[in-house]
Formats: sequence, C-alpha cells, structure tokens
Amino acid sequence: MQVVFYSSQSYDKTFFEKTNGHFDFTLRFLETSLRHETASLAKGADAVCVFVNDCLDEACLTALKEVGVKWIALRCAGFNNVDLKAAKDLNLPVVRVPAYSPEAVAEHTLALILTLNRHTHRAYNRVRESNFQLQGLLGFNLHKKTVGIVGTGQIGLATARILTGFGCHLIGYDPYPNQAFKELGAEYADLETLYQRSDIISLHCPLMPENHHLINGAAIASMKRGVMLVNTSRGGLIDTRAAIMALKSGQLGYLALDVYEQESEFFFRDLSDEILSDDDLSRLMTFPNVLITGHQGFFTEEALTQIATVTLTNLQELINTGSCCNNITE
Ligand code: NAI
Repeated sequence: MQVVFYSSQSYDKTFFEKTNGHFDFTLRFLETSLRHETASLAKGADAVCVFVNDCLDEACLTALKEVGVKWIALRCAGFNNVDLKAAKDLNLPVVRVPAYSPEAVAEHTLALILTLNRHTHRAYNRVRESNFQLQGLLGFNLHKKTVGIVGTGQIGLATARILTGFGCHLIGYDPYPNQAFKELGAEYADLETLYQRSDIISLHCPLMPENHHLINGAAIASMKRGVMLVNTSRGGLIDTRAAIMALKSGQLGYLALDVYEQESEFFFRDLSDEILSDDDLSRLMTFPNVLITGHQGFFTEEALTQIATVTLTNLQELINTGSCCNNITE
C-alpha cells in the first residue's frame, strides 16, 4: 500500500521511515502542499498523509477520489482544514492523531509565556553585544497571577498542571468541563468572567466556525488592561487586526503566537530572502511585546515519534478492519 505525504519536511521523512520499520507501507514524500491543484500528484497512492496547512476542501477531496485515493490520514490533531461532510459524502475516511504529546504544546506555551514576560529573547541578543543593562527587561512574577485557560482538554489541562507548579490561580472556560481540571484546584467560569479576571489568557480550544475570531475587539476590550494573550491553538481564533489595534493602544500588553491566521502561506518555509507580503504579520513582528514562533508547539522527538506511530497504526487498522477508533468521519 502506498502513502503519499504532502507538505513533508526532512523530519517527517526521518520519523516516518524509522517507524515504518514496524509496518510495510510504501512511503512517498512530497514537499508541495495539498490543494485541489496538487491532488493529482497522489495518483497511484492508496492514502494521503497531510498536515495542518493542507487544504482539503470539497474540490480537493473530489480530485483525490478521482485519482483513486481511498483514505486520508492527518498527522495532526486539529481538522479545521478538512471538509468532513464532503469526505463522508465521498466515502473517504479521515483519520487523525487525537493526542500525541499534550505536554509538547503545553511546555511550548510556558516557553512563550516565560520568554515574553522575562524578555529572554532580547536579553540573549543584548548580552551577546556585551550590553548588560537591564532597562526594558522588567518582568512580573507568575506566582499568584490568574491565568485563564480557554479549552481545558488535553493540552489545556497539561498547561494548567504546569502553571499550578508556578503557584498561579487558574480559571477555565470549556463547554465540556473536565473533572481533572477542577481537581487541580482550578475553577470554571464563563468567558466574560475569565476575560475580566485573567492576567494571562491561553487558548487551547479547536478552531470551529462558531469560534472563528473568538478573540475580537470586544473580547479584548473586556480583558484587563495589559493582559498577556497566548495562542498555540489555531490562528483563526484571533482577529489579528483587532489584536494589532489593542497592542497599539496598550490594552493588550503582550501577545505570543505559535499560530497565525494566514500561516499556510508562510510557516514551515525559509522566506528569509523574500519580501514578506503579509502586512499584518509584518506589523506584528515590529512590536517588542509580541513573540511569534512558526507552529512549533508539537515539535519534540516524543511527539514526532507518536505522530508517526499513530498515523501508520490508523492506516493499518483501516486496511485490516475497515474501521479505526481515530476515524473522524464515522
Ligand atoms: P482536546 O480535544 O483534547 O481539547 C479541546 C478542548 O476544547 C475540549 O475540552 C473542548 O470541549 C474544548 N472546546 C471546544 N470548543 C470550545 C470553545 N468554543 N471554547 C472553549 N473550549 C472549547 O484538544 P487538544 O489536544 O487539547 O488540542 C487543542 C488544540 O490545540 C487543537 O484543536 C489544535 O488546534 C491545537 N494544537 C496545536 C499544536 C501546535 O503545534 N501549536 C499541536 C496540537 C494541537
């Protein structure tokens, strides 16, 4: 059975080829992303394996079906980039990796919070220039601060566990409250209360049509002045223009992003020799109190090993039994 990988990087090849030692798939790696126009490259393959910025809309799924693809394997948890209804109608099962290492993303969330708060990225550059002054590097203690966690599933909970160790007070918002979150001594509240009371707000919910631009101008206006906002979930949760306005006014004190609404055009590529065409991303990068990473929350050895193992196991299950516990089209 042949699996074609879209948007593949050298590390995908490394981890999947190693894991495939326990399976017997033929793996073909493409650097190009999957969209309607590139679907025909999957001709001859039984399955495609895709990542967060591949675009599996109805046209793309139809084109995949036409070239004989039978299964779609997401090597990620989020599936906002897949038209699930179209996949069901076309009888194209879609499997995903629901949890590979919540700690990987949670630990990156903390890296962003601590870096932005204590300005270690700026201190690193300063000290290398023999500038040992402290002006501009003032931070605040995390101890006793209130952190709002929007989405208390696996990653939100893992983040909450770490923050408990810092002595933070935790408020969660989730339509499906999690007993394990309460057992940390954390409380649930409605979004409005979470916005009003939090010193730091961290987003850990999936992106869905209902919560697109959850963090808009009105939401930011109801937060504490100078709040720190962290998004390691999906870019579309934040209205970027509203965030820029709030950074300019000082309402938003800090912004950390591992994801960006228009990231599919930029992330996972070296564009250092090119002119950046996105004015919002360019503007964000000018703020000293904004920290951006290129969707690397998941990027640990443990997570990549788990992603490869679960993805290939999902496909093997589909072949052997016709069904799979990680099928999101069933
Ligand atoms: P999960 O499914 O375990 O938890 C998500 C939680 O969000 C659930 O408890 C759900 O009830 C809640 N939720 C749903 N809609 C909500 C809403 N409107 N407001 C608040 N909560 C809501 O998912 P997990 O594993 O914790 O992942 C969360 C998100 O993190 C993923 O959807 C994905 O977008 C993102 N992610 C980012 C990665 C990165 O590398 N930066 C890697 C992996 C995931």
